Amino acid sequence: MKAIKSNLLLLLVLISLSCIVQCTDVSHDGRALIINGERRIIISGSIHYPRSTPEMWPDLIKKAKEGGLDTIETYVFWNGHEPRRREYNFEGNYDLIRFIKEIQYAGLNSILRIGPYACAEWNYGGIPAWLRKYPGMQFRTNNQQFKDEMANFTKLIVDMVAKENLLAPQGGPIILLQIENEYGNIMGPYGDAGKEYIKWAAKFAVSLNASVPWIMCQQGDAPQPMINTCNGFYCDDFTPNNPNSPKIWTENWTGWFKAWDKADPHRPAEDVAYAVARFFQRKGTTQNYYMYHGGTNFGRTTGGPYITTSYDYDAPLDEYGNLRQPKWGHLKDLHAVIKEMEKALVYGNHSNEDHGNGIEVTKYKLNTTTACFISNKDTTKDATVDLNGGKYFVPAWSVTILPDCKTEVYNTAKIKAQTNVMVKKANKAEDEPSALQWSWRLEPLKKQLEDKKFSFQSNQLLEQITTTFDESDYLWYMTSFHQPHKKQYKLSINTTGHVLYVFLNNKLVGKHEHLHLLSKERNVTVRHGKNNLALISATVGLKNYGSFYEKMPAGIAGKPVKLIDGNDTIDLSNTTWNYKVGLVSEKKKFHLDEKSSKWKSVMLPINRPFTWYKTTFEAPPGTDPVVIDTFGLGKGEAWVNGNSLGRYWPAYNDTAQGPCGHCDYRGKFTENKPCRTGCGEPAQRWYHIPRSFLKSGETNTLMLFEEAGGSPGLVEFRTVTVGTICATADKGQTLTLSCPSGGSISKIDFASYGEVKGKCGAFEKGTCESQDAFDVVSKACIGQGSCSISVSKETLGENNCGGSVPFKLAIQAAC
Ligand code: GAL
Repeated sequence: MKAIKSNLLLLLVLISLSCIVQCTDVSHDGRALIINGERRIIISGSIHYPRSTPEMWPDLIKKAKEGGLDTIETYVFWNGHEPRRREYNFEGNYDLIRFIKEIQYAGLNSILRIGPYACAEWNYGGIPAWLRKYPGMQFRTNNQQFKDEMANFTKLIVDMVAKENLLAPQGGPIILLQIENEYGNIMGPYGDAGKEYIKWAAKFAVSLNASVPWIMCQQGDAPQPMINTCNGFYCDDFTPNNPNSPKIWTENWTGWFKAWDKADPHRPAEDVAYAVARFFQRKGTTQNYYMYHGGTNFGRTTGGPYITTSYDYDAPLDEYGNLRQPKWGHLKDLHAVIKEMEKALVYGNHSNEDHGNGIEVTKYKLNTTTACFISNKDTTKDATVDLNGGKYFVPAWSVTILPDCKTEVYNTAKIKAQTNVMVKKANKAEDEPSALQWSWRLEPLKKQLEDKKFSFQSNQLLEQITTTFDESDYLWYMTSFHQPHKKQYKLSINTTGHVLYVFLNNKLVGKHEHLHLLSKERNVTVRHGKNNLALISATVGLKNYGSFYEKMPAGIAGKPVKLIDGNDTIDLSNTTWNYKVGLVSEKKKFHLDEKSSKWKSVMLPINRPFTWYKTTFEAPPGTDPVVIDTFGLGKGEAWVNGNSLGRYWPAYNDTAQGPCGHCDYRGKFTENKPCRTGCGEPAQRWYHIPRSFLKSGETNTLMLFEEAGGSPGLVEFRTVTVGTICATADKGQTLTLSCPSGGSISKIDFASYGEVKGKCGAFEKGTCESQDAFDVVSKACIGQGSCSISVSKETLGENNCGGSVPFKLAIQAAC
């Protein structure tokens, strides 16, 4: 007994000792998060684990750490984890615990935004559609059924991470948790029930005893001890609702999401840096990039109906995990200088001087240490500002940082990081034939049209979400009617979307793709006797945002279906409708059925809706990310070796036409600035095939379900790699250039020292350039993975420029 007692004592001593070494205490005051008794600056970035693969996670986290982040943030995706009530999925890219352990392994902190409502351009905002099975269910309000389900899932997650010792006080990486998400933005219409709900959510979160602070973003009335935080392109002017809450920026949007009907949005690196610098200038202490890596909406996870499969977000790491340069590097440089000033920023006395014309000079003073910011908010006028006897040139819409209040170390508009221009390279395996060989089979529509086995019947046109519960994108509406004689009618269908196919007497007579509510009319010929009308309504992801968003109907939803010829109208809305949920291919899992004898290899049909295509290929050699070009295809879903790449829809062009044009980083960024590219082009043409989906040295299978009709003839694989790299540096600085992933510089396309103008891809020499620069650069860089050149006449030779324009060195090279 004595031995048992002393063993127990030893264990307790060991546990508490290990805690002294490893356990992290997280609290806060009104200035900052306090970690183990010290106020800290937190620089975090969002990486959503299901939007990449477990094999990609370590590299993404490593690149985030190299980029100067100390924390990784993610939502938790409820409908991915609980696809059916009390049936859970924590496998593969939903292995939340593995993801958090990867973060821990890299030595970073983690912020877990459980929600469990996420928004995030994710299907139904992350809330499972099966919740709609319960009569009276209302999402995100004082509704007992919803609160019970939300509580069940939230507790499950907190218990799960606690069991794995992943909370900071247990020695784990999780320093903050979130309940709900931006409820304050949409709570008005919920009235008192919304207010009650938020109070309940706060109380419930606290009751979970996780021992780390909880946040509620965009929640001006967040009850204590919840910290309300800010989301947006800028949060410098934000003030939390309690003097004991630090200024936390949970979502600094590094770009914006892509939509099927819009060109590709980009947020300039200078502007992201400006927003971050302003935040720290104005006493912000914790900030998170949304997104640091956006990734891919695999499977059927896109929020609907606008969001594309790519969730690239123009983030510092691109969809495939490559560094997006110069954004990644420019922010890395900024993080380094902010971290250097950490003590002054979190403990220093803060004073601010308004110099007029948008100029603000800020000083943080801690004992003898000082750190300064000079910001110029003017959107067009550059300024020269006097500080401590020095003169500083501060371009319009920029912030200069002087960690000792004397030396300019960083300016948000002066990018020193290199630019990487990525290319999609044809990169075939050696014995890969030049053209892909396709086989095909049809979706068994005829069988479904003729089969009398229905899911159910109704005398109404039913709303789609509460009919399919999102188990499939597809819902069949089928009816029949009699006609005394053959006649032409206008068939009018009012649908809430998103895509509709019309079959009359087993023939496809119409298809409509639309993301907005539309009434569609078309001429049809109705035959004498019995006519069969069958409609397939397809959803493209469910809505993810807004008050009562879950009630936004999908499908035909009670709207009339009519045949019209002047006064002769046949209203079919309340006839007997037979319903079938899903397509045969889904139930039979065609995407896994490579061996079926139904695959044919002759007479490949083109532009035929509801056709399956299959081909085999070898994995492109190397480790560069692989993409597939879907040009020529219509709309559907693609799989590689049974893994879904997501919905593809290259037939959808940017109908909004931009705006594309000259992108000026100066002035407030909105997603509608003309900083878009790809106007008038397919919204998404390239789809990511993560390397872990591929088998190297073996045959791989690509399968396409071409729903709308297209041609697979132009489909091909490419690898994404750095093509051109560029950098510029001013006299007195050092220019560094490097090729990523073990590559080396093969060629110098351009090198000039003097009054060089233009930008990467279009540099122009000045008239007074040094004659030696090209040779010096070639010698120093060719064949090297990385090279550094100090920008001076000693290294680059004399130029004949007069000195009115600051000299610089510009290099463009190939990897
Ligand atoms: C926020 C939301 C995020 C994401 C973002 C836009 O309002 O919290 O989840 O949807 O907007 O990308």
